[in-house]
Amino acid sequence: MRGAGVGDGLGEGVGDGVGVCARASNGSFDAMRPAAPSAGRLLTKFRLAMFASFARGVLVFFFIWFWGQMQMEMHAEITTEGIKYAGSKLKLLPHILRLAQKVQPLTVFDGFSGTTRVSQAFAQAGYRVIANDIAVWSKVFAECYLLSPRPREHYNDLIDHLNSLPGRHGWFTEHYGNSDGLKKPWQRHNTLKLDAIREKIEQLSGHEKSVALTSLILAMDEVDNTIGHYASYLSEWSPRSYREMKLRLPRIIPTIKEHVVNQADIFDVVSAIDADLAYYDPPYGSNNDKMPPSRVRYASYYHLWTSICLFDKPDLFGKAKRRADTSDTLSASVFEDFRRTDTDRFVVVEAMERLLKQTRTKHIILSYSSGGRATADELNDVIKSSGNLLEVVEVDYQRNVMGGMRWTHEWVRDAEGKNREFLFLIEK
Ligand SMILES: C[S@@+](CC[C@H](N)C(=O)[O-])C[C@H]1O[C@@H](n2cnc3c(N)ncnc32)[C@H](O)[C@@H]1O
Repeated sequence: MRGAGVGDGLGEGVGDGVGVCARASNGSFDAMRPAAPSAGRLLTKFRLAMFASFARGVLVFFFIWFWGQMQMEMHAEITTEGIKYAGSKLKLLPHILRLAQKVQPLTVFDGFSGTTRVSQAFAQAGYRVIANDIAVWSKVFAECYLLSPRPREHYNDLIDHLNSLPGRHGWFTEHYGNSDGLKKPWQRHNTLKLDAIREKIEQLSGHEKSVALTSLILAMDEVDNTIGHYASYLSEWSPRSYREMKLRLPRIIPTIKEHVVNQADIFDVVSAIDADLAYYDPPYGSNNDKMPPSRVRYASYYHLWTSICLFDKPDLFGKAKRRADTSDTLSASVFEDFRRTDTDRFVVVEAMERLLKQTRTKHIILSYSSGGRATADELNDVIKSSGNLLEVVEVDYQRNVMGGMRWTHEWVRDAEGKNREFLFLIEK
């Protein structure tokens, strides 16, 4: 009976002093009537107070809901584009944007911009972006998407003209389109088009060149014969490789903010970066000592994009005909190193420590893909010593679901699972 009296939704006498509660405990509703005339006024006041706090609660709820809807709608309009890329953060964009929103930055530094999908999303969300990557193709993409001064349509004629060029034999067909018994990244009809278009692009400069190169790389990415990188090629032609490559207009972002684009080793620029938030998505070496150091090597995986951007017709080596300057000994990034230092710490974790220390932004969002308990343990120590860990987001990539928030070092345990992706929001 007591339960029914207390929870019937009418609140009869519930807040009317200790005495009422005590009397209610005998289970009789009669016993819950006010004991004195002043008790009635108190009851009315109490009801009003209850109603006011209920109304406040409802208002707050609707405000949060409405704000959430606004954010979702705002982010729903955000569309990015890019090549197939190991470690692309396309699926994490909503989570990255949500974390960024929390710290309300004006300027965001994307230190390892890769495909520039994250930079594109930041720019569309209204932030000023400083994009940086060591790779030349990333610089070209960022120039195209963030710095092109003209509206998209301005480049229409240029793209149409490039599409209309008849194919011709050149450096790319010579090395990647001939039947010499080796597997190929593209079919010949597409390397002939590539040669003709790339030759023509050499006559362009500035933003027009960046737009044309980006469009060309996107088009070649759509007809490739690979599993997503160019360190090896498929033995059977992929169905998409039969298609005719076709340039499309890249989704250039209208220039509202004065974005900046760098192509540099992060350590050469980080201490000079003046921004509110840094987003770091470094490659991360494996902690598996049996893995070759070239597990994911961006320079060698995407050597063909470098050759298209630079058009420098470099010396080549190996069955995949990689650029000579992408051999393991020449182009390793410290973030791709899987080994330990003399002090028995992972090279990549020490690099992260140096990077976080040298960063001047107040907030950092750090991406980490599961690579094993040991790296995660050391990284956790580095994060703790570099600032305040405000939030951890864990995403199960394979199932494409957010595994939930982790507020403590608990995430380290999950780092052993495969296909886990973490985002750390750190306050310096
Ligand atoms: C995991 S990917 C970044 C992916 C990117 N966030 C995206 O969504 O496309 C890592 C990037 O780090 C770049 N990189 C490797 N070492 C670097 C260094 N020392 N300085 C700057 N960039 C580096 C690689 O070229 C690669 O594009």
